[in-house]
Amino acid sequence: MRYNDFIDARTNESYSLLTPQIKIAPSILAADFARLGKQVTEAQESGADWLHFDVMDGRFVPNISMGMPILRSLKRVATIPIDVHLMIVEPERYVQAFADAGAASISVHIEASPHLHRTLTLIKESGCRAGVAINPHTPASFLQEVLPLLDIINVMTVNPGFGGQSFLDFTLKKISELRQMATAIHKDIDIEVDGGINTETAPKAIQAGANVLIAGTMIFGNADGIKSGIDELRAAADIATSI
Ligand code: DX5
Ligand code: ZN
Repeated sequence: MRYNDFIDARTNESYSLLTPQIKIAPSILAADFARLGKQVTEAQESGADWLHFDVMDGRFVPNISMGMPILRSLKRVATIPIDVHLMIVEPERYVQAFADAGAASISVHIEASPHLHRTLTLIKESGCRAGVAINPHTPASFLQEVLPLLDIINVMTVNPGFGGQSFLDFTLKKISELRQMATAIHKDIDIEVDGGINTETAPKAIQAGANVLIAGTMIFGNADGIKSGIDELRAAADIATSI
């Protein structure tokens, strides 16, 4: 944990904020599932910090992805924490199952959680780090009351449901607001950005206050391979943090 300099996306003024180290979290949604173990091993050997695991139910989001059986298999090859992102309705029903299957952290969508405080408490009781994911249109202020409980905030930088979409620039302002809100209560919350992250968008997100770069297409879809994707993202992040 350390204080870093940031630029306020609204005013262009710089200020110091409490922020954890930059982390890279490859999203396995973009992996080749026939070679998942091999690709994940390559990502780990290339310096990935976390693995990001997207769960979609065809109800909260239009798409269906994966669930506990794949997480259990992934856990057998994972040497780094697995960050589970639940894009499902009634996420509280599945917290314990994902914790048992190997999640290190679980994020639920605020838009799918009418009893968010209770659900976050449940996640903590399951032994996982607790996170909230927030859709592009949802204001930062909606998280104010639960901030003390949060280890992670996943700022959706695309509308959830699909990989390979373009980063929505208007979410930068919200990243700044959330980092300031976390610093105001002296918490080094991990602020993730999820969707459309590449060497152009990652520096903007970091400058706004994000510290966890979730990237699927940029890493697993990289024409030069997984290692190149991670190396390029790390280099872009290093430049952004040295400004
Ligand atoms: C989108 C998922 C993301 C997705 C990101 O709903 O939450 O984690 O994998 O994919 P890219 O990096 O391709 O935008
Ligand atoms: Zn995700």
